[in-house]
Amino acid sequence: MESATQALSKLNINGDSVPNLQKNLSLLSPEQIELAKMLVEMGQSHLFQHWPEPGVDDEEKKAFFDQVALLNSSYPGGLASYIKTARELLADSKAGKNPFDGFTPSVPIGENLNFGDENFIKFEEAGVREAQNAAFVLVAGGLGERLGYNGIKVALPMETTTGTCFLQHYIESILALQEASCRLTQGKYERDIPFVIMTSDDTHARTLQLLESNSYFGMKPSQVNLLKQEKVACLEDNDARLAGDPQNKYRIQTKPHGHGDVHSLLYSSGLLNKWIDAGLRWILFFQDTNGLLFKAIPASLGVSATKQYHVNSLAVPRKAKEAIGGITRLTHADGRSMVINVEYNQLDPLLRATGILMEMSTLILELGPYIEELKKTGGAIKEFVNPKYKDSSKTSFKSSTRLECMMQDYPKTLPPSARVGFTVMNTWLAYAPVKSNPEDAAKVPKGNPYHSATSGEMAIYRANSLILRKVGVKVDDPVQQVFNGQEVEVWPCITWNPKWGLTFSEVKSKVSGSCSISQRSVMAIKGVNVFLEDLSLDGALVIKSVDEAEVRIGGSLRNKGWILENVDYKDTSVPEEIRIRGFRFNKIEQLEKHYSEPGKFDLKA
Ligand code: UTP
Repeated sequence: MESATQALSKLNINGDSVPNLQKNLSLLSPEQIELAKMLVEMGQSHLFQHWPEPGVDDEEKKAFFDQVALLNSSYPGGLASYIKTARELLADSKAGKNPFDGFTPSVPIGENLNFGDENFIKFEEAGVREAQNAAFVLVAGGLGERLGYNGIKVALPMETTTGTCFLQHYIESILALQEASCRLTQGKYERDIPFVIMTSDDTHARTLQLLESNSYFGMKPSQVNLLKQEKVACLEDNDARLAGDPQNKYRIQTKPHGHGDVHSLLYSSGLLNKWIDAGLRWILFFQDTNGLLFKAIPASLGVSATKQYHVNSLAVPRKAKEAIGGITRLTHADGRSMVINVEYNQLDPLLRATGILMEMSTLILELGPYIEELKKTGGAIKEFVNPKYKDSSKTSFKSSTRLECMMQDYPKTLPPSARVGFTVMNTWLAYAPVKSNPEDAAKVPKGNPYHSATSGEMAIYRANSLILRKVGVKVDDPVQQVFNGQEVEVWPCITWNPKWGLTFSEVKSKVSGSCSISQRSVMAIKGVNVFLEDLSLDGALVIKSVDEAEVRIGGSLRNKGWILENVDYKDTSVPEEIRIRGFRFNKIEQLEKHYSEPGKFDLKA
């Protein structure tokens, strides 16, 4: 058989000779020569055009092939397949081909839930029961360019009353579910719920450091798995020629491939089989900055279990002009049918007709059918390309592009027989992501959500206030205030840790008698057995207690409290995580109690 070196020395494809590569062949290993051959065959000779004589930059030339090997091994089907798909998608994009041509949209089937009603409570209980059989996967490899925060998004405080960051809140929520599930099933399963975090080169080290410097926020390190996604090669033209890195001529430029990578990473990690062997049944995917999500998780998992959905997509009602996708059932005359999220830029007219729901990038999949599907696809997800063309001839790009894929496009390849449904939640309960910087948020048309750090934090206080109202607490109406140019409702700043009340029933069990909370109040509870009994709060109350302490709080508690002060996001003397919200607390007076010993305690004014 012809050796790769011989093959390469004869290569002269499309009139494209590769003399500079040929001169350097002796530097390369047989595997590297195979990769070189593949690149030349796939029309990538330009990558070697500038290569100097052997003896110059030899280490860099070898490092180039290390990068090619990584790009090749981390993509299902290898780099050749990536380039081939890119050519097809770029040709479709140039031709203006709509990927949904021939499909008719309609509203898909699903379960509409309203917080606190009978149906909701029933699903919540079923969900808590099932939580022992679930694994959680957080996709946290994104750069967060729109937010523009310098750190990783999961390290941002979710709210500044306690300063709890998103990652801590997610971990505490999973642990609270684990305990509640164990209690409800009377310890039948005493399982540690697995937690996977997908990171990228942009977030990996800082995510690991955040976990390690905080003792994994109480989770066993063995319970947590970090899977790092790799970037993909950039494309410089419609022929899918790979783009050189502007910083280093011996590298290919790379960019993130999108959160769809999570499926192939999970598949190749071997975790899925481990989980199914251990008896797990569900896998839950969620995003980095939605502080409300876990309020919707128990009931949604209950829907999956009760309705036996292979795929359950969480959704909230969609506002008319929101620049975000919508869930749609698409049916083709040839029999194909799918329930998927359609991005707003893909099919706006279609969305206007049917896209009444907006998905929250949260999926609950049944593990068995998921594994069967991944065996067929290797975890590859339908990709898309979004080049920014220089002009209407669509022959050249403003900057390099790349293929991308989305986690929630997983159902696109499923057969019509798959049970694909969705769960609709109250927006106030379930969805308040932090994605936009203050300047962009301030430009959002009135009535549409800001999705900023300001609105994300205020949404937590609103949700907690509304939840307490549902269980009978008299909570005063909010006032309107403007922070960083965004008008928001300011409710009493109420927070509690997930163990105190993850479900409607749990919160209800913690409140009795006639309780009231004034608008200017702050209440932060960190404990499990903390009970509010005939409490009238007008000021700031901070309670911390160990699990073994039982604390009853009542009477009329009044103090000067905490005042919300405006902060300008341009004021760099204020820490970034504060100024992106546009406010901070001036802590004037509070009642703060720590119960660090077991026992029964009364705090009565
Ligand atoms: P976003 O849509 O918020 O994208 O991602 P982003 O890249 O983080 O932010 P922008 O678009 O640059 O402003 C949704 C979720 O998917 C994760 C993000 O971390 C977030 O949880 N993600 C995104 C990945 O894990 N990998 C990616 O390549 C992209």
